[in-house]
Amino acid sequence: MTTSLDGQNVLVTGATGAIGRAISTALAAEGAHVAIHYGRDRDGAERLLEGIGGRGWLVQADLSRPEAATELWDAAKDLAGRLHGLVNNAGIRSEVSVEAPLGDWQATWDRELRVNLLSAVDLTRSAIRHFRAHGRGRIVNMASRAGQRGYASNAMAYGASKAALINLTKSVAQSHGHEGITAVALARLGPDRDGRGLHRPARRGGGARRHPRRPHGRACRDRRAGGLRAAALAGLAQRGGARRQRRQLSEMKDNPMRFQGKVAVVTGAAGGIGSAICQRLAQEGAAVVVCDVNADGAEATAASIREVGGTARAFASDIATPEGCRANVADVLATEGRIDVLCNNAGINRRGNLLALTEDDWRLSFAVNLDAMFHLCRAALPSMIEAGGGAIVNTASQWGLHPAPDHIAYNVTKAAVASFTQNLARDYAPQKIRVNAVCPGEIHTPMLETGVRRSGRTIADLDRLVPFGRIGKPEEVAALVAFLASDEAAFMCGSLVEITGAQAVA
Ligand SMILES: NC(=O)c1ccc[n+]([C@@H]2O[C@H](COP(=O)([O-])OP(=O)(O)OC[C@H]3O[C@@H](n4cnc5c(N)ncnc54)[C@H](O)[C@@H]3O)[C@@H](O)[C@H]2O)c1
Repeated sequence: MTTSLDGQNVLVTGATGAIGRAISTALAAEGAHVAIHYGRDRDGAERLLEGIGGRGWLVQADLSRPEAATELWDAAKDLAGRLHGLVNNAGIRSEVSVEAPLGDWQATWDRELRVNLLSAVDLTRSAIRHFRAHGRGRIVNMASRAGQRGYASNAMAYGASKAALINLTKSVAQSHGHEGITAVALARLGPDRDGRGLHRPARRGGGARRHPRRPHGRACRDRRAGGLRAAALAGLAQRGGARRQRRQLSEMKDNPMRFQGKVAVVTGAAGGIGSAICQRLAQEGAAVVVCDVNADGAEATAASIREVGGTARAFASDIATPEGCRANVADVLATEGRIDVLCNNAGINRRGNLLALTEDDWRLSFAVNLDAMFHLCRAALPSMIEAGGGAIVNTASQWGLHPAPDHIAYNVTKAAVASFTQNLARDYAPQKIRVNAVCPGEIHTPMLETGVRRSGRTIADLDRLVPFGRIGKPEEVAALVAFLASDEAAFMCGSLVEITGAQAVA
């Protein structure tokens, strides 16, 4: 694990709750100093500071006061000197019925929006001004699936505040990405419909609670949620006392190889993104089977991995046919004996609207972009189930979620990949098969260069369309794929993760 936050200072609000503790610990494990915000739990804050080896400071603020957030930022800045990150994690969930007196109703909504949203808004304002002065900075907002789906009648303020937080995140990313300021929002599997699941304390002493509506078979407990958020931040799922926290910090630094002893199969592995995925998985210990219809390209990728001491072999296969897919998986199982990670990455991009596109291009797009996933997954799943689990990461596209003009076959197949991913995740989560998809925006690869040439545009033209100021790099997608394929993403299943440099529409 690289200590990628060495020398950075991060303010975490609501740091004494389960999720806040996990985040703070994960950040410290990555080398950061943490400004630990607490409301009333001074003892908890002190224990947390001790647990992270004193790498930080304590800052108190009652975020239900309108001035508190700005004062909190200033206090944290005074202690740290320079802040590099802000995690808006503090949150409450209150209940009020529509039958309640108007005064109670309004007071509950005011407080909920103040703590969950407006304090984050004010902190974001301060952070942007500070980050802008220093050239860069990161904001992470703890949202909730309640913010995307709505919430129980007596807790609507919670859902509304989280929905607004997600929107705020997108606005910040789009408006300030070019200034080196990034913003992301994280949400976990949502609450029970009756609204009790989300903040129910972890059960003591018992195993996971079976939960009929969740394919993973358990309710979303704070401990797992804390781990998920921490994993998304820095790759550590944890909660516990100071000794355990310190042990996990040292384990993280000593164990950088997330795929040691694992076999990964990557399709489209001669191409830009596929090759980068292979390199990344191999760097982290995987034995990689590099699959592509382009035999020379696959061999070149495999050879470049072996040259630097990694384990890789090429397998030439045309996955446009069911036989090609089945032969591919059969070969890996016969040779390597197992498949721990399957990255369905191969894809083609045929340009054309409905009338311009040929029938052959329509069919080939489905064969390569979608049907191949069906056949490869069908062939690989039984062995994963028998092994007790596995990870599948599909390469979808931003265009599958927001169609670009004149690419009907590509857009439709990628939308289907997104749905395929969610369906597979739902059906096989009980067997611990995690299926997720990445949805890249514009990434600098041979596929993109072909498209750019055809359209008469330049890469610089595309750079200008991305709020972050440039298009993406294959290795940036590969890092995300590696995360989703790793045990750090243990509770991610059925997620479609966009990686677009804040580009909202293709
Ligand atoms: N580059 C982007 O901007 C971008 C954006 C969103 C999604 N994607 C997706 O990322 C994935 C990788 O794309 P890329 O940009 O690296 O493109 P690329 O053209 O560089 O790579 C695609 C690879 O797939 C292989 N392939 C094509 N047909 C095949 C077949 N029948 N059997 C086996 N292999 C086959 C090609 O040989 C090539 O090596 C694709 O699924 C693509 O749709 C790319």
